[in-house]
Amino acid sequence: MAFRSLGEFLAELEKRGDLVRIRSKVHRDLELTEITRRTLAQDGPALLFESVDGATMPVAMNVLGSRRRVALGLGADTLEEAAARIGKLSKLRPPAGVVAALKDLSGTLDLLDTVRSLGPKRVTSAPCQDVATDSIQLDTLPILRCWPHDGGRTITFPVVVTKDPETGEPHTGVYRLQQYGPDTLGFHAQLHRVGASNYRKWAARGERMPVAAVIGIDPATVLSGLAPVPEGISNWVFASFVRSEPLELVRCQTVDLEVPANAEIVLEGYVDPAERRLEGPFGDHTGYYSAPEEFPVFHVTHMTTRRNPVYFTTVTGKPPTEDSVLGKAVERLFLPVVRLVLPEIVDMNLPAEGLFINVGIISIRKSYPEHPRKVMHALWGLGQLMFTRYLIVVDADVDVHDLGEVLYRVGLQADPANDFEMARGPVDQLSISNPIPNIGGKVGIDATKKGPSDGFPRPWPEEIRMDPEVVARIDALANADPVLGRLFAERPGK
Ligand SMILES: Cc1cc2nc3c(=O)[nH]c(=O)nc-3n(C[C@H](O)[C@H](O)[C@H](O)COP(=O)(O)O)c2cc1C
Repeated sequence: MAFRSLGEFLAELEKRGDLVRIRSKVHRDLELTEITRRTLAQDGPALLFESVDGATMPVAMNVLGSRRRVALGLGADTLEEAAARIGKLSKLRPPAGVVAALKDLSGTLDLLDTVRSLGPKRVTSAPCQDVATDSIQLDTLPILRCWPHDGGRTITFPVVVTKDPETGEPHTGVYRLQQYGPDTLGFHAQLHRVGASNYRKWAARGERMPVAAVIGIDPATVLSGLAPVPEGISNWVFASFVRSEPLELVRCQTVDLEVPANAEIVLEGYVDPAERRLEGPFGDHTGYYSAPEEFPVFHVTHMTTRRNPVYFTTVTGKPPTEDSVLGKAVERLFLPVVRLVLPEIVDMNLPAEGLFINVGIISIRKSYPEHPRKVMHALWGLGQLMFTRYLIVVDADVDVHDLGEVLYRVGLQADPANDFEMARGPVDQLSISNPIPNIGGKVGIDATKKGPSDGFPRPWPEEIRMDPEVVARIDALANADPVLGRLFAERPGK
């Protein structure tokens, strides 16, 4: 089932008992954070705050704060099902674009039909433009102050639309927008983001960059803003593909951009290349406050909304958070894409505690000397995986999600004198331990078993395993002897 709007999704969640309406009066400064934080920690439902102090609209939070809701939001029963769909789209990524792929892949009719129908659909009238105003008072929106020492109230979950001035290619990214005044916001697209690259291109031309920020839209479109969609695939096509239905787009009323027709709220305006302002501090994904730093300023000149909009937002912080749930979902969804480039990869775990940028555990089918190092360097060159500071490579039979097993393999099978690959390169702008911002070290750890094909001179010892015949005999005995049966049922693990 595809959802066209946030409202449709919330209605479905409510039908399934996975949304709770909060009618008590709560304040948008800090209180929504505390309620949402506690709810998410218990894998609780989506929340719709109906009585936020001073707000004229309800506030939806924790909407994508569980795997089951993310899968449902993508029109799938499981994330694996959605991942399989994304894997197919990636196969269609040719250098010359989707049209060429249509010709090349004329055998795969099913897929072609789907892709043919995926050009976003243009509409001329849209619910997100039911109400419009040029007199911007951002205080009419229930913008949250998330953490006590935040530099200001912040729109935390907007899908920000920009475009490349050279190609005209639109792009969406989720970048927070800190409120400065009645009509100005900080444009927090970090250094390595496409939104920041677009900004630099507009700035090089000495022109203002048109910007639209979408607050509240269907889950697939939100995901297309926060996920590392491979270059060459439009975020709009990606959103359509993930939910198997074309996204409806409408032209903005005052800027030359398009936005999803079924959005709740759209802010239109511009970023002036000549203007930068301190943004932050902000309670960030790291669990620390990001220090104030200069970012461009987004001037909001026009706002359109639905007649009864819902304000969609989230709270970042130390995991678990909604964005850490989403990060895990992105890991599952994009594994097939990573495997297209590196088919030797069996599985990947980017633990939430590693913030998805600090620690990566990769299992591979190793087939030649230095193969793990080849994988490390390939991953350090692949999209946002370039940020990974600690990359641990294990053999195909190691469960990368079993952190005890991974530590066992690292401690025992990786020799720091020989199996550590030290590198240096770009690190995420939010990283705090590198003395120079955006530049830092990386370590790859080869925790695979070694053998003659690795140039390893000693014989690798034999791993202890029970004789399978004995295992089968004891299984049979446990079936016959209730005492043994109960013993094993209570303490599983052979
Ligand atoms: C809730 C949430 C808030 C985010 N806030 C920011 C932000 O303020 N700045 C930023 O650069 N990235 C932020 N991100 C990460 C980007 O959305 C993400 O890296 C995305 O892939 C955009 O990258 P791109 O613009 O290079 O395509 C946020 C992600 C989430 C889930």
